[in-house]
Amino acid sequence: MKLWGGRFAAPSSDALDRLGHSIAFDRRLHAEEIQVNRAYARALAGVGVLDAAELERMLAGLDRVAAALAATPPPPLADEDIHTAVERMLFAEIGPLARKLATGRSRNDLSQAGFRLYLTAAIPTRIEALDGLRAALVGQAETAADALVPGYTHMQRAQPVVFAQLLLAHFWPLTRDRARLLAARDRAAVSPMGAGALAGNPFPVNPEAIAADLGFSEAFENSVDAVGTRDYALELLAAGAILGVHLSRLAEDLVLWSTAEFGFVRLDDAFSTGSSLMPQKRNPDGFELIRGKAGRLLGNLVSLLTTAKGLATSYQRDLQEDKEPVFDTLDTLGLALPAAAGAIATMRLRRDRMQAALSWDLLATDLAEYLVARGLPFRDAHDAVGAVFAHCDREEVAPPDLDLATLRTFSPAFAEDVRDVWDYRRSVEARAGRGGTAPEAVRAQIERAKATLSHV
Ligand code: ARG
Repeated sequence: MKLWGGRFAAPSSDALDRLGHSIAFDRRLHAEEIQVNRAYARALAGVGVLDAAELERMLAGLDRVAAALAATPPPPLADEDIHTAVERMLFAEIGPLARKLATGRSRNDLSQAGFRLYLTAAIPTRIEALDGLRAALVGQAETAADALVPGYTHMQRAQPVVFAQLLLAHFWPLTRDRARLLAARDRAAVSPMGAGALAGNPFPVNPEAIAADLGFSEAFENSVDAVGTRDYALELLAAGAILGVHLSRLAEDLVLWSTAEFGFVRLDDAFSTGSSLMPQKRNPDGFELIRGKAGRLLGNLVSLLTTAKGLATSYQRDLQEDKEPVFDTLDTLGLALPAAAGAIATMRLRRDRMQAALSWDLLATDLAEYLVARGLPFRDAHDAVGAVFAHCDREEVAPPDLDLATLRTFSPAFAEDVRDVWDYRRSVEARAGRGGTAPEAVRAQIERAKATLSHV
């Protein structure tokens, strides 16, 4: 069955049919398709296109179609798309009455209604999974608020930080991702029903009533825009791509931290994999896959942006390409987020290895700040301490072992109390302002993080 055969003397070619069929992926929207059909049938009854008895038969028929589509195993469908499948199956259930349901509407508004409805339910499930990861990060941060590690910039040793600070540096971007996903959900929650093919509906169903019936927060403003836009899907894909970047960076850190060379964490057996050849291996495949899958999340955004960019106003068939990238982003997040959450929640922190990784060069900035406290302009202090560390490199001596007389050749401002500088804990404790790495500041940050977990 085709929904548009009347105009043609000959059937369309198999090649064109194969190119155009979307049933393989849009059958995923079968439950939403039925929901929209039911709401639209009620709207048609509201304007007298269906009488009460017809409405009742139609709703009952749609229920039977819904059950058939939801059966396990799923029925094979050879139709062009889910809209065609439902019309065909409804006809089989209730006969010619089924042919009234298409009155005043088009697959252009219908397909968008089902897709948008699907997103309003699917996005919150991904937000829940994201919250699981956020909670795991905060949970580990709570156990690591006073565990010192080297902090790095340019992948070079920089300054000491507490390990919780590094975990929370992943928490906050993910919290912004949550807001982006939520915004994408809200953007999707607009009903296009009543837009028709592009010009609106003359019958005259009320778009706002259909929107309310379907649980959308509002109806479209412009019928041409309603069938032509995919910006709401792009917003989800953009949120997914940015989240993908964040997951990938988190994964990269975990891959690094779980190496023998870093050894800051040990991944649980349940989140490690072995090698088919090397018996000793404990591989972080989960994080490598998450890092890898971020590529798809980025690609899905670029894919739909590219599809949309050159299109004339209103519906163009290219727009059928909207669904696969969106489904793939949702599926990928559905796989990556629980795996990341589980691996983070179960990993063991290795404080001994963190402690062992600390080295005096991490306190060079503190040494310069010591001189600033004794009146030197920071640039002068920076020069002097740079020369101190160059000297230590040359002479192969540890900076705390330099005697005061030698230190004074670099700056007369050095005094006995300089020895207090050589204390990693003192360094982090000094950075006690909001957002700083002092354990006390980090504990306050953890409280703020926990508050975002509970109130959203
Ligand atoms: N499967 C199509 C889509 O998702 C339905 C719309 C077809 N509309 C049309 N005018 N051919 O875009």
